[in-house]
Amino acid sequence: MSEKAFVMIKPDGVRRGLIGKIVCRFEEKGLALVRAELRVVSHETAEAHYGHLKDKPFFGELVDYITSGPVFAMIVEGKGAVKNSRSLIGPTNPAEAPPGTIRGDYGLTVEENVIHGSDSPDNAAMEIDRFFK
Ligand code: TYD
Repeated sequence: MSEKAFVMIKPDGVRRGLIGKIVCRFEEKGLALVRAELRVVSHETAEAHYGHLKDKPFFGELVDYITSGPVFAMIVEGKGAVKNSRSLIGPTNPAEAPPGTIRGDYGLTVEENVIHGSDSPDNAAMEIDRFFK
């Protein structure tokens, strides 16, 4: 059954001109881009998006980073879109992400790891609502 996932190229990825290359990975995999927008994330949205991390020492820097410039927010659709986009994206820390994954190929550190992808269908639905309602 077709599924939707929320994916967001973070400000470092946009700044470095990686939108085209990254969108290409999803399309080559077979996931369709069904909605997309370049925009600056508000503080309020950033804090909600990373609400599960609000007690972490890096929370403030994370919010500053994600609001530091435009992101490219997308909805991708296809079979197993959530799981498939997470496997394209790779592990959270680019230093541990294998080459061939987006974080493995384009990132260096966990603080600027290029891209976000929903980690469950429930979170995908919530994030799509949050960013595209
Ligand atoms: P998390 O939701 O754990 O990972 P993922 O993005 O892979 O779903 O963390 C959200 C973001 O928080 C992560 O992409 C990068 C940032 N982060 C840090 O800056 N430092 C850290 O030690 C961790 C674990 C995450």
